[in-house]
Amino acid sequence: MTLQALDGWKRTHLSEELTETDVNKRVIVMGWILRRRDHGGVIFIDLRDRKGLVQLVFNPEFSQQTHAQAHNLRPEWVIAIRGEVRPRPDDSLNPDLVTGKIEIFVDELKILNSSDPPPFPLDEETNPTDAVRYKYRYLDLRKPTGARQNLLFRNRLLSQIRNFLSSEDFIEIETPFLTTSTPEGARDYLVPSRLSTGSFYALPQSPQLFKQLLMVAGFERYYQIARCFRDEDLRADRQPEFTQLDIETSFIEEKDLFTIMETMIQSIFRELLGIELKAPFPTIPYCDAMARYGLDKPDVRFGLELTDITSAIRETGFGVFKNAVNSGGIVKAIKVEDGAKLSRKDLDDLRDFAAVYGGKGVAYTRIKDGGEWQSPIAKFLSDQERSEINRLIGAEPGHVVLFGADSAKIVNDVLGNLRNHLGAKLGLIPAGNFEFLWVTEFPMFEFDEDAKRFKAMHHPFTSPMEGDLDLMETDPGLVRSRAYDLVLNGSEIGGGSMRIYRKDVQQRVFKALGIDEEDAEQKFGFLLEALRYGAPPHGGIAFGIDRITAILTGSESIRDVIAFPKTQRATCPLTGAPTPVNPEQLKELGIRIVMRKE
Ligand code: AMO
Ligand code: AMP
Repeated sequence: MTLQALDGWKRTHLSEELTETDVNKRVIVMGWILRRRDHGGVIFIDLRDRKGLVQLVFNPEFSQQTHAQAHNLRPEWVIAIRGEVRPRPDDSLNPDLVTGKIEIFVDELKILNSSDPPPFPLDEETNPTDAVRYKYRYLDLRKPTGARQNLLFRNRLLSQIRNFLSSEDFIEIETPFLTTSTPEGARDYLVPSRLSTGSFYALPQSPQLFKQLLMVAGFERYYQIARCFRDEDLRADRQPEFTQLDIETSFIEEKDLFTIMETMIQSIFRELLGIELKAPFPTIPYCDAMARYGLDKPDVRFGLELTDITSAIRETGFGVFKNAVNSGGIVKAIKVEDGAKLSRKDLDDLRDFAAVYGGKGVAYTRIKDGGEWQSPIAKFLSDQERSEINRLIGAEPGHVVLFGADSAKIVNDVLGNLRNHLGAKLGLIPAGNFEFLWVTEFPMFEFDEDAKRFKAMHHPFTSPMEGDLDLMETDPGLVRSRAYDLVLNGSEIGGGSMRIYRKDVQQRVFKALGIDEEDAEQKFGFLLEALRYGAPPHGGIAFGIDRITAILTGSESIRDVIAFPKTQRATCPLTGAPTPVNPEQLKELGIRIVMRKE
């Protein structure tokens, strides 16, 4: 079989452009063979191009020669054909196909390329394992549904974002990849320098410092669809390289920034999903989010809120609760109204659930007539304690109440995640709802138990709240910041803050973080210097494009919305990256490898 060149042939139509109005036209279409079916004397081929499928007919009565050639054709071969559009006979109409009312009778065929048999058939029915799918991602992406659709959606999302922001006078500016460390809480990916032996660039964890410098430069409204690199433990919603919609503005405060962002998100939902979102989105301070939901990214599509019942059991004799209170902890409860939906086994399994989040168990009770408790722990609590708990949480017969007792951190972690788990298990999450929530007033610092010092909760360039500035040296744990997250259906899709724009405040924050002057000068001297030259009040936000695309396309993992994603081990199944490099390259870089003993 000889392969042929295009030789002047031009495609006249894409598959899905062909309709009944094209009947009798002579057309040229090109693409890949999905499948070949031999029906008696006639051969049918489903041809795939970037838009969809069209059926080709090789009929010996129409063209002896192409019919003979068609016998050789195999899946995924690349062909171009010329032929005549005909209506399909009534008994072979295909309502599932856009081109299901027509077919093309072929009388000229060019075989442009052959194909090895693909490692898996590219039909809808075959689902290869992830290992195979990502190794042959270019074939996986040929399939019209799945990841391909997600990439098309992502493309429309980015276009809509660009249109909107440019109409709002934002300008897109690129910032360097080869740069110095920008702390966002993860490890840096480092790139060795050949010209400055022994020195390294860091790939940006975000464009944070550059976007602030662009505000000092007077651009006032910046954005970038920016790739970010973070060497951290991976999960379904994290990749080592991912994309942010990065935004920074000057002369503006939280409320106004929120409004622009809400308008942008409304435009995305309107244009891409035909959904009219209500704005402004609700706002909740961090401490309320933690109190009511146990998490800083609450899913507010359902209830099951947490209640602190510590006051009711302060003097209790029940060991589990007493230990928590005595060591400065708390006791919180979740009330499940439809308690009958939780079996004895469900309740007993909660101990394992708690263990995942560092908890030692989840105590529970069923509420019976008259508010009586049916519970393994009922006998350890006094009548008065039980009735006070009933009162605090509004317990009624038929309810089940679940308790966590420990440090506030563990209780919130266990019950916050349990709440999400129960929301899904009990079917309380309405399908198709999109609930946005701004979480504000995050703590400025959090104590890192391992390092025994304060870390920035957002990043060290976030402005503390003016009223809390006095606490910075005396009680850093209480300082609130002007940081905010945007949460969608329990997922953190964006985060940002108003920034420090005065050098003195920035120095105080570095100090609270244990970054001494010399250190600060060495790492961020350029920023401190820039703040001396009339930095305007500024602030911004960054959205996780992969996460947003995953939620809007209903994908389980952000890997499904990335063309060439990495594995949980941060490797690329297709290229094999990371790979060892040859000794010459290492020598040029002045690097010697010391293998770690496993
Ligand atoms: P932050 O670190 O909160 O803020 O990141 C912003 C958003 O990026 C997404 N995201 C990720 N998505 C996929 N994989 C990851 N590993 C990953 N890490 C983060 C999340 C997150 O909300 N410079 C600040 C923004 C600012 O202050 O303006 C920043 O990077 O959706
Ligand atoms: P135990 O005395 O360990 O058998 O625990 C009695 C009940 O309290 C069991 O239902 C445990 O699951 C539960 N429990 C144990 N530790 C905790 C805790 N830290 N918070 C809430 N419940 C707990």
